[in-house]
Amino acid sequence: MMNEGVVVVRLRRLRKNENIRNMLQESRIQISDFVYPLFVVEGNNVKNEIKSMPDVYQMSIDNILQECENLRNLGISHIILFGIPAIKDSIGSSALSDKSIISRAVRAIKERFNDMVVSVDLCFCEYTDHGHCGILDSNGDVNNDKTLEILARQAVILADSGADIIAPSAMMDGQIRAIRDSLDANKFINTLIMSYSTKFASAFYGPFRDVADSAPSFGDRKTYQQNPANRNEAIRESLIDEDEGADILMVKPVLSYLDIVRDIKENSLLPLAVYNVSGEYAMLRAAKNAGLIDYDRTLLEMMISFKRAGADIIISYHAKEIANLI
Ligand code: PBG
Repeated sequence: MMNEGVVVVRLRRLRKNENIRNMLQESRIQISDFVYPLFVVEGNNVKNEIKSMPDVYQMSIDNILQECENLRNLGISHIILFGIPAIKDSIGSSALSDKSIISRAVRAIKERFNDMVVSVDLCFCEYTDHGHCGILDSNGDVNNDKTLEILARQAVILADSGADIIAPSAMMDGQIRAIRDSLDANKFINTLIMSYSTKFASAFYGPFRDVADSAPSFGDRKTYQQNPANRNEAIRESLIDEDEGADILMVKPVLSYLDIVRDIKENSLLPLAVYNVSGEYAMLRAAKNAGLIDYDRTLLEMMISFKRAGADIIISYHAKEIANLI
């Protein structure tokens, strides 16, 4: 017997009918939420699969263009590009030329697919022989302020090549202001900055470093990437980048950091991206291959959790699979 005068709230009546469930769904994913990462290498007709990341390839520009066509047919209109040069040196000089692999790739894509939104990862770890994200001091630590100068130069070259969005991922202090100032001074006032604003020193990047050939040859990135244990610092990192002029913030990785996504969403009104990184992709694909999970449902559940946590934009190697599922 129910107590008189007590209203029993029944939530199950909201769930009985599929149309009602759909009407009341609070978070949704759509293909325009997604950004697909592409890795570009020198050469012709190159398509190297990466063992730890099934269906992810290093591709030469001709194959990248073909892939853009495929993406367009799937309804994916936003990519993020990573350049992998043939020659690396201590200061990443190949990134500072408009003939670099990444500049040529951006130009070729924008020439053929003018409406494609092209973001470019701005960092030096793919271009340096030591694999760190900037110029090193004699003691092996990355020199913050010297690195700012070359990040600012690389940003202008990429904007001039046609990049719509510059995505700085080097985690140098002051990089957003340095890049914004240098873009503006060179008349690229409409080039957006999507900052990897809260980026943790994470083991989840392992497979990416195989694809991008960017593992540090010594040490790790803990002196510039963020401690996964720190919540306040994670929020401050993003708020500082907002203050320096970022247009879009980002949390990376995402699966283990949904609390931080929510925190940043509640502390900033900027659009927020999440990067569903290589290790997260590799784990899910491995579980699929082992027949351990209902892959499609697990995948969609993960993507919805990013949106529910507060993400507006999802950078993911799963984007093509999502396009086929929704
Ligand atoms: C470059 C960069 C990295 C990733 C994106 N940009 C690697 C790193 O910081 O070590 C990782 C992406 C992924 O794991 O999918 N600095």
